[in-house]
Amino acid sequence: MCGIVGYIGMQEACPILIKGLRRLEYRGYDSAGVSMINEKGELNVFKAKGKVDDLEAFLSDKDISGTIGIAHTRWATHGIPCRENAHPHFSSSGTLSLIHNGIIENYATLKERLIEKGFTFVSDTDTEVLVQLIEYYKLEYKSDLLSAVQRALAQVIGAYAIAVLDKNNPDEIIAARKASPLAIGLGEGEYFLASDATPLVEYTHKVIYLDDDEIAVINRNSGLQIITLQGQAVNHEVSEINLDLGAIEKGGYEHFMLKEIFEQPDCLVNCMRGRINPEGTIVRFSSVIDNAEQLLNARRYIIVACGTSWHAGLIGKTLIENFCRIPVEVAYASEFRYSNPVIGNGDVVIAISQSGETADTLAAIELARSRGAFVYGIVNSVGSSIARNTQTGSYIHVGPEIGVASTKAFTGQVTVLTMLALCIAKERNTITQAELEEALGELLAIPGKMAEVLSQNDAIASLSRTFTYAQNFIYLGRGYNYPVALEGALKLKEISYIHAEGYPAAEMKHGPIALVDAEMPVVVVATNKLLYDKVLSNIQEIKARQGKVIAIVVKGDDTISKLVDYVIELPETAEFLYPLLASVPLQLLAYHIAVCKGKNVDQPRNLAKSVTVE
Ligand code: M6R
Repeated sequence: MCGIVGYIGMQEACPILIKGLRRLEYRGYDSAGVSMINEKGELNVFKAKGKVDDLEAFLSDKDISGTIGIAHTRWATHGIPCRENAHPHFSSSGTLSLIHNGIIENYATLKERLIEKGFTFVSDTDTEVLVQLIEYYKLEYKSDLLSAVQRALAQVIGAYAIAVLDKNNPDEIIAARKASPLAIGLGEGEYFLASDATPLVEYTHKVIYLDDDEIAVINRNSGLQIITLQGQAVNHEVSEINLDLGAIEKGGYEHFMLKEIFEQPDCLVNCMRGRINPEGTIVRFSSVIDNAEQLLNARRYIIVACGTSWHAGLIGKTLIENFCRIPVEVAYASEFRYSNPVIGNGDVVIAISQSGETADTLAAIELARSRGAFVYGIVNSVGSSIARNTQTGSYIHVGPEIGVASTKAFTGQVTVLTMLALCIAKERNTITQAELEEALGELLAIPGKMAEVLSQNDAIASLSRTFTYAQNFIYLGRGYNYPVALEGALKLKEISYIHAEGYPAAEMKHGPIALVDAEMPVVVVATNKLLYDKVLSNIQEIKARQGKVIAIVVKGDDTISKLVDYVIELPETAEFLYPLLASVPLQLLAYHIAVCKGKNVDQPRNLAKSVTVE
């Protein structure tokens, strides 16, 4: 949520900042701004409502010179999206400019105090309070910027990644973080700042991830110094970013989301590589081998996650319970963090997150660890806060996901959960070697089968046109397919703004069936072997009320197929692997409906990719 970028070096800062903002636009895109100090020592701030394109147009006749600068793309928390609320924010005297990702929870109290001291405000944001507070301490103690930042941050409750420029010191950027990500790219005589590594990769592969309560002083002459809020020097390891530039570009596709949907077969191959042997006889995770005591003898697993990752967690529950015979609970991280969970030694918490930065999931991890649980992370973003704050874990290795609607991360998460369940089950002897080999054989065949599903893209696109004007949608599934229904509904809501609900199919008769009439499209994931007749009855009940049924069936199905209005066929696989195949046509359906409706598929309204605030 909100993307921040910074640059100091020999090059002109603005083009680098704008390029960086484009890479981070998935984090928020309601307004954007830049601030540079030019050769004359002037501190300029330029901002525009809307996308980075709008900002760039606004900059066309401005003095954007300067080799030091900061920039921001916003996802509104305090105050509507407008130029005044966009970042960077000036301090009252116009000598400081600041960008911020996060939330200052006690901003109202701080603002009141500053108003009493004569400060005035031009925006509704919590961020402006912070820049004024820094200015206040700078003036009050006649101090330099660093000491003022330290004093101000000591007063702040909340989350922040910030960067500040001071007109009186055109050779220095001060940055700090607490619970919001911040990476520093190390170039030759130049430094870059960003919310994640994607803006850095074309300039440098060397990066330092700031930790909580740390401040970076980046000086043109003396280089980089990292200290704690209290001023103690910190030595940081430099990480190497292995990010291919092609992976963060559209590569000929109209949207990132479509590219990411089509990447899934390759992503799953990458995800399985090195974990399953080519013969399909062994599945291994070093995280399981190294932590066998905690993972194999756990009293209970608790999965915490948000949104799509939570849906993957629901599938994980069924997988782990079925294969490993360990009880599993699944909690929304946002609820878990404020509950008083009965949890402790002997419990394993699995935290699932694409971005690795979701504030609620991070807080849930902190709570679980403080109560003695062992925490395992399933994360996509390498080096992210969740990856660093869990005791062990597995990356899903699907590459950067830029489209706000999660697609390949979901199937990557489900694939890791499947392998993890099989690995733990084998170690616990709750499945036989023959069962393991059968399961792994099926899993290894999934990428090929997924490619077959993707080849139906044109047919799904033309089916989507039929539903462009639908007002509501229902998605149904049972067993492993129930979370697939939830995920299908979420995808449609997120990018087409059509109201959609997912239910376990048998729940329909307990209320939701009242919604069904000839105007109601109902998507049924009907691949279940075990519950086939039950799902068939559920479909009959909908048809009896004139609902329009789109059924996802297994190739060769000739009963449900004859009964419903539209059919999408999947290749046959094992029952527990249908979520990996069935989620693909639902992603495509949502994508094409949103495109037909002319929506901004990659940057849907009100959403951000990385939810780093509560
Ligand atoms: O990065 P995370 O997986 O922790 O994010 C969790 C949710 O915010 C995310 O899945 C969200 O629901 C997506 N927009 C879904 O498409």
